[in-house]
Amino acid sequence: MTVLVFWGLILAFCISFALLKWNDLKYRRKRLPRGTMGWPLFGETVDFLKYGPDFMKKQSAKYGSVFKSHILGCPTVISTDQELNRYILMNEGKGLVPGYPQSMLDVMGKTNIAAVHGSAHKFIRGSLLSLVGTAAIKDQLFPDIDKFIRILTNNWDGKTIDIQEKAIEMAFYVAFRQIIETECDLIYKAFKEEFDKVATAALSLPINIPGTNYYQGLQARKNIHKILRQIMEERRASRKTHNDMFAELIGNEKSRYRLTEEQMFDQIFTILYSGYETVSINTTMMAIKYLHDHPKALQELREEHLAIRERKKPDEPIDWNDYKSMSFTRAAFAVKVWPHSKMTCMCSRFLIPKGWRIYVFTRELNYDPVLYPEPYTFNPWRWLDKSLESHSYCFLFGAGGRLCPGKELGMVKVATFLHYFVTKYRWEEVEEVEILKFPRVEIPNGLHERVSKY
Ligand code: HEM
Repeated sequence: MTVLVFWGLILAFCISFALLKWNDLKYRRKRLPRGTMGWPLFGETVDFLKYGPDFMKKQSAKYGSVFKSHILGCPTVISTDQELNRYILMNEGKGLVPGYPQSMLDVMGKTNIAAVHGSAHKFIRGSLLSLVGTAAIKDQLFPDIDKFIRILTNNWDGKTIDIQEKAIEMAFYVAFRQIIETECDLIYKAFKEEFDKVATAALSLPINIPGTNYYQGLQARKNIHKILRQIMEERRASRKTHNDMFAELIGNEKSRYRLTEEQMFDQIFTILYSGYETVSINTTMMAIKYLHDHPKALQELREEHLAIRERKKPDEPIDWNDYKSMSFTRAAFAVKVWPHSKMTCMCSRFLIPKGWRIYVFTRELNYDPVLYPEPYTFNPWRWLDKSLESHSYCFLFGAGGRLCPGKELGMVKVATFLHYFVTKYRWEEVEEVEILKFPRVEIPNGLHERVSKY
């Protein structure tokens, strides 16, 4: 029996070694950086998703700041080199074509902003900015965001609140209601369930067999299309007017941004996906956490918001001018942002073979001691210096032609949440929490705060 186990182990070792070697040889090319390709089909996806930044650190210590791997179903060159990252982000169009993981492209749609280039990208981006850009925020979106957040944060005195849950509700529900207002409450629950499957599938291995996240994401995408198509047909059949983004998309027949049905639906996926975890967990929740841990910063931020309240009647909403006056809040924002969980990948026709991707890993940049002294100290004051915000290595909202079009909208939502939360309440953490930071930021059991009146 022991002998059998021994030979079994030897055999398993030999097969594993042969498979790893075979996969490595399969992807060997001239002028590619060093690195390992992992297992056939799966590559190193499990290590990448499980260990994230530590995986990058380990591999770059072994193979250099630019190395190769196989993640999320695609051979990939990972760049942690900030000079190269900046070059890539700023040079779309000069032989560099942006791309995203296959699974993300499949569930988010072929006409999604992330999937299109050149003039098609300009067109889709223009349409998106007409929906979520500064003009739309000032005229339509801000009053609605203010009203919802005021109601959401009402009556929390004496309660234990899961900030993670509320931040998600704030980011997703508000975005959803601004897209589809009239039918929102009727379909919200079913829609959100399907959308969560799409979001999970976006960062998964593209294996299309029943049971996989990817398969479920594709099914959920179809179900969402059904829901949207039904609403569109009902609206077209009725004479009622609607005042939301969907109405703008459907009724845009005479405007310069006239979209096909597929493009409209993909825009909806984009707004919901891109403004979801970035706004909710990555910033709002992390802001509350950091402010709790740094009373001096909280005090300065609170003073800024109390000064705004003093200029207003008790229930008067805040507006664009108030938001623009929140200089410390905007600075605090810069330190607490966790970059997008989605990947920026690009293919270069010079060094990287066709079909490969480059993963531009900018996350560690915020922690570079050369660029930012004491990078691990929560120090919003350093961002009050404007030159830092416009620093050439600052990719908090991406860079170049792919700079985040939802930057102001995202910041407005977080700033409004902070405004009502810090002027109405103080808060205490109920328990110590563990924050998972990759591939998405998450506190597995939520961030529970004991809230009392300020
Ligand atoms: C505070 C929250 C936000 C942060 C920190 C953030 C951050 C970023 C970053 C770093 C990128 C570049 C990503 C890359 O190159 O892969 C980006 C792109 C993008 N963001 Fe945001 N974002 C936020 C909110 C939003 C919101 C609310 C929307 C809603 C419309 C949005 C829509 C997008 C889109 C569509 C892109 C892709 C742009 C393109 O390819 O042209 N973001 N964002």
